Amino acid sequence: MTDIDQEIIDAYTVIFDGLQHLGPGDPCVTGQLVEQLQEDLPAAARVADFGCGTGASTLALAEHLPRARILALDMNEPFLAQLNAEADARGLGDRICAVTGDMGDPPPLDGVTGQFDLVWSESAIYSIGRSNALSCWHPLLKPGGWLVFSEIVWNSDADDRNKKVAEFWETEYPDITTTDAVLDELTSAGYITTDPVLATRKSWASYYEPLRKRLNVLSKREDRSPALVEVMTELEKEIEIYDSAGDEVAVAFFIAKF
Ligand SMILES: C[S@@+](CC[C@H](N)C(=O)[O-])C[C@H]1O[C@@H](n2cnc3c(N)ncnc32)[C@H](O)[C@@H]1O
Repeated sequence: MTDIDQEIIDAYTVIFDGLQHLGPGDPCVTGQLVEQLQEDLPAAARVADFGCGTGASTLALAEHLPRARILALDMNEPFLAQLNAEADARGLGDRICAVTGDMGDPPPLDGVTGQFDLVWSESAIYSIGRSNALSCWHPLLKPGGWLVFSEIVWNSDADDRNKKVAEFWETEYPDITTTDAVLDELTSAGYITTDPVLATRKSWASYYEPLRKRLNVLSKREDRSPALVEVMTELEKEIEIYDSAGDEVAVAFFIAKF
């Protein structure tokens, strides 16, 4: 990793310090989806949350699966420190193993690599490329295990998209596609698919509204590094797009079985 990469990671750490969501998400949606899978999971399930950030989904998973062991994996240690503090405060710390590492090559949980009953990942699969992630994660599941991830997708025909919004997402995330195309990718990677679930607008608001306030506070600071200014500018642009967007883009949860 170069010094510049580290400066950018540090900028994200400063911006998201104290924030619960690092991407669109809603612990209620996470909880509802886990409850739907609960009957098909062993009580003491082995669970992984890849790119867990400060742990909004990890904590929801631990609360809804009261005997599960959870590997909470993120490349950014300060996010995990925040997760650990909150997990301890909620009495969940003994079941969450928060580890720094690469979701493309995850470390073992309790001495065993893979063998997960459930792999979860919210707003993070893009980090290592969706196609790469789908093939890396398949062998980590037990036969019959589940993969659940959220991903930003087109939710309208190309002709109906606001031009500014479409240009933004095509530039920022060239891998953006439709739910049908992601389902095809899942099938090609060997998963059995179910119907995707579109998250509500609240999932976006619970990410962007606290972030908007945080950026406003940080913008008054005079000691901002160039990397911090750069990341803040990108996020401000994303919020501007969120403000002007309708339903062109959506966050979809994909629920697939080994
Ligand atoms: C947009 S955030 C989402 C975090 C969290 N799931 C949430 O919804 O709040 C993406 C996360 O993935 C982490 N990340 C990026 N690349 C990673 C990698 N290769 N391995 C593990 N974590 C990674 C980042 O540090 C960040 O916390």
